[in-house]
Amino acid sequence: MDWGMENRIAKLISPKTGHAVWLAMDHGYFLGPVSKLEKPAETVRPLLPYADAIMLTRGILRNCIDAKNSPPVILRVSGGNSIIGDDLSNETLTTCIEEAVRLNVSAVAFSIYLAAKYEHQTLVGLSRLVNQAQEYGIPVLAVTAVGKELGKREARFLSLACRIAAELGAQVIKTYYCEEFEKVVECSPVPLVIAGGPKLRTELDALQLAYAAIKQGAVGVDMGRNIWQSPNSLAMIQAIRSIVHNNATVEEAEELFNNLKKK
Ligand code: 5RP
Repeated sequence: MDWGMENRIAKLISPKTGHAVWLAMDHGYFLGPVSKLEKPAETVRPLLPYADAIMLTRGILRNCIDAKNSPPVILRVSGGNSIIGDDLSNETLTTCIEEAVRLNVSAVAFSIYLAAKYEHQTLVGLSRLVNQAQEYGIPVLAVTAVGKELGKREARFLSLACRIAAELGAQVIKTYYCEEFEKVVECSPVPLVIAGGPKLRTELDALQLAYAAIKQGAVGVDMGRNIWQSPNSLAMIQAIRSIVHNNATVEEAEELFNNLKKK
């Protein structure tokens, strides 16, 4: 692996623990101002010291994140769709590799939509992005999007999506946790991180999700709503970190969460 690529990946996935806690805050690119992310800077500022990386668009990066004090950046470079548009899968590259270089990002993120109208467009888009990013030693995070069909979060579908993303050259893949998640991990020659998905009923549910994913082979989480939509987001991100980096059990992480939230 080229030095630049290796160095960037080492910023994202801790060489010490082999794991990663990324804070996803790119939701606005197709969802607009989702709850708690109306003012991204205010919501995420206290969380940044606990994030190994942040995933976001260039607009939010430039306007809401201090260039002098930022965690490594995973730049969302696909979009062109919206939650009220015709078809969520109609995504394409929304910026260029020179912009990623200008912004000194550690990775670029691109969604692929399998079994959707624009499957081909997103797969070819991912492949072309890998060609360009490879030139500059920038890793590509493929996101196995499921659109509005959350039911697609099952092992057969996600194994197919992750494997195709890896075959097309993605260095890391963001997918969903599902039953028999270990099968998804087994089929992927590159590391997987999981999204949190829509906010779960309790923080304990999200801790259990993170724990199960790590135990079954995920290298980490790229979690958004289950962290910053929690009324105790600061406690939540630290509890998640304890599972991902410090091998904490769900009970230990919950205890940490409860202690931190009292402060
Ligand atoms: C959609 C995305 C999201 O915008 C986001 O990153 C997901 O994070 P979470 O589900 O944890 O809120 O990648 O495909």
